[in-house]
Amino acid sequence: MTFQNRMKIPRPDDMHLHLRDGEVLKAVLPESARHFARAIIMPNLQPPIATGAQAAAYRDQIMAALPKGMEFTPLMTLYMTEDMDVEDMAAACHGGIISAVKLYPAGATTNSASGVRNIDNVQHVFEKMEEIGLPLCIHGEVADPGVDIFDREKEFLEKVRRIRLAFPNLKTVLEHITTSESVEFVKEQDSGMAATITTHHMVLNRNHILAGGIRPHYYCLPVAKREHHRKAVLKAAVSGHPSFFLGTDSAPHIDSRKESPCGCAGCFTATNTISILAEIFQRENALDNLADFTSRNGANFYGLPVSDSTLELSHGAPVDYPEKIHTSEGSVTVFDPMMPLHWHVETRN
Ligand code: NCD
Ligand code: ZN
Repeated sequence: MTFQNRMKIPRPDDMHLHLRDGEVLKAVLPESARHFARAIIMPNLQPPIATGAQAAAYRDQIMAALPKGMEFTPLMTLYMTEDMDVEDMAAACHGGIISAVKLYPAGATTNSASGVRNIDNVQHVFEKMEEIGLPLCIHGEVADPGVDIFDREKEFLEKVRRIRLAFPNLKTVLEHITTSESVEFVKEQDSGMAATITTHHMVLNRNHILAGGIRPHYYCLPVAKREHHRKAVLKAAVSGHPSFFLGTDSAPHIDSRKESPCGCAGCFTATNTISILAEIFQRENALDNLADFTSRNGANFYGLPVSDSTLELSHGAPVDYPEKIHTSEGSVTVFDPMMPLHWHVETRN
């Protein structure tokens, strides 16, 4: 491919985003809204967003926090629980309030305690979702404390296989995949199955977290794996394959909660994600596939029109971005990709 120093892509969608609420929401929302048209908003607040009314109220809270002049559409999700009201879910779907339902295995990650303990107990939820065409987003890790943390994603694939077999028309997204096994699994499935890939999992392997010192800002769930897994995930992302698309899983935590003896999981990448992705895709000679990954594949999967506004990128001197975003509750560290970034995003705001 000939080198280009300017490019235009349809405004991206972030198909997996944590915005939190309150003061943190106000501080982090512009970081996403500056570059993204839409985002699938994760429901793992405390308490979780588990009803249509809660999803509508959370959507209003997000829109109220959006700075004047910025355009951004939050696509809301419900947090799946074993005792959820499927009629309420169906009404929220038909009312256009929610775009997906998120399955967290109980105990698998941040604020997942009210998640699903046993998948057998939510078969009726899957059935209803399949019937009404409501997509399922899965945090695909087993939460069994006896399973090594580096094997938890691989072990979960059997459960996904069972869900796919029982509900072949249920649109299913395996979120934030980190292993070659997940890449292969998704490729074997039909177009009703997709996976999101985060920015940080294209950059990190487990040495970055643990070798030469422990780096809490690189700790997220699923935890980054060995280098060959990083390469497999990266290859899937840059391939242009329609079943892989961007879900940053940008997950802000206040620094004091990350830099702690028991630090929270999550990388905050909203601020520099697009510059990082352009840099990575360029290094992989795949800039032509960037827009598929950031702006087309996800929209197509969710049945949304590709954004008709554009984002312009230009290549030049290293991009300056803040090390931290300040909130009234404390600072949030922006993900350090360990490489200079040269793709500037030209924003309207
Ligand atoms: C997420 C969070 O902080 O809410 N953390 C993370 O490490 N990704 C939860 C999640 O998506 O697992
Ligand atoms: Zn997440």
